[in-house]
Amino acid sequence: MKGSILVTGGAGFVGSHFARAAAEAGMRVTVLDDLSAGTKPPPGVELVVGDIADQALVAKTIRERGITAYAHFAGKICVGESVEKPAMYFDGNLVKTIALLDVVREHAPEAFLFSSTAAVYGMPDVVPIPEDARKEPINPYGDSKLSVERVLAAYGHAYKLPWAALRYFNAAGAHPDGTLREAHDPETHLIPLVIDAALGRRGPLTVFGEDYETRDGTCVRDYVHVCDLASAHLAAISTLSSGRAVGAVNLGSSTGFTVKEVLDEAARVLGKPIPHSIGARRPGDPATLLASNARAAQVLGWRPQRSELGTVIDDAVRSRR
Ligand code: UFG
Repeated sequence: MKGSILVTGGAGFVGSHFARAAAEAGMRVTVLDDLSAGTKPPPGVELVVGDIADQALVAKTIRERGITAYAHFAGKICVGESVEKPAMYFDGNLVKTIALLDVVREHAPEAFLFSSTAAVYGMPDVVPIPEDARKEPINPYGDSKLSVERVLAAYGHAYKLPWAALRYFNAAGAHPDGTLREAHDPETHLIPLVIDAALGRRGPLTVFGEDYETRDGTCVRDYVHVCDLASAHLAAISTLSSGRAVGAVNLGSSTGFTVKEVLDEAARVLGKPIPHSIGARRPGDPATLLASNARAAQVLGWRPQRSELGTVIDDAVRSRR
């Protein structure tokens, strides 16, 4: 693929995997990241350290590097924190994104990709969830992401901004060569916590509730491999660059696993049991989150290739050894 792309948040988990995939596909990749999350960009990309809302820096970067495509990963991602500190989430995810977009739209972009989330749906009443399902986020994190989607729809219409909002379900796994990893601080996501509990790096895992209306009482989630997310972003750039609209698209495997099934599969992959106990429900957890990925197949020609649960866990294990 040709072209010069700005990847905000390209030092983070999904952003670094995408940045690497875009560089490998032949794009010139510039990562803009404030490195606040303590991670690092992949090799083969250029790094600009700074804030996405620094409009002078963004304009200079676009001009100097001839940027025409954008993948906007930078943002706040912790649901619980968003409830405690909503100002941080509306500022970090919405206000700063508008500041970024107001520079981008002055520079004739060919594609603007936004990292959205299954959290826009809140407590879904239809599963698998289609993109046009009711959207009532139940926390400021989801609200902030849905607000950006609405800004994109309005900007797309008024300013001819070619946009895609890619709604990730449970991003997981890692590059199979083990050099990039999921490294949140604090880590709250199930699969890295399970692996670290099994490897004795932390105490036993707490399973958050076993009284949900699911097949074994624990929550069902749709785990999608981070490399599949990266390839979906490349497909979205190709689609937008060829003049076709994308809009909002779910990115999930469309296969659901309960928390207990994840523990069983991780025990199989690691060859040892996962120390755990059963605890109370975590506030705000829907019983089931499962994507319909029909629209991703139709609009992007995308199908997950690496999202089988054993592969996701195996790759995550290799990156954490
Ligand atoms: N879980 C546990 N114990 C833990 C951690 C997680 O039982 O120590 C359970 C959760 O209750 C949930 C499942 O494992 O049922 C997955 O939890 P994660 O924290 O890994 O991921 P979430 O499903 O909470 O998060 C995803 C996306 C978010 C999105 C959210 C919407 O990662 O971006 O769904 O609910 F906001």
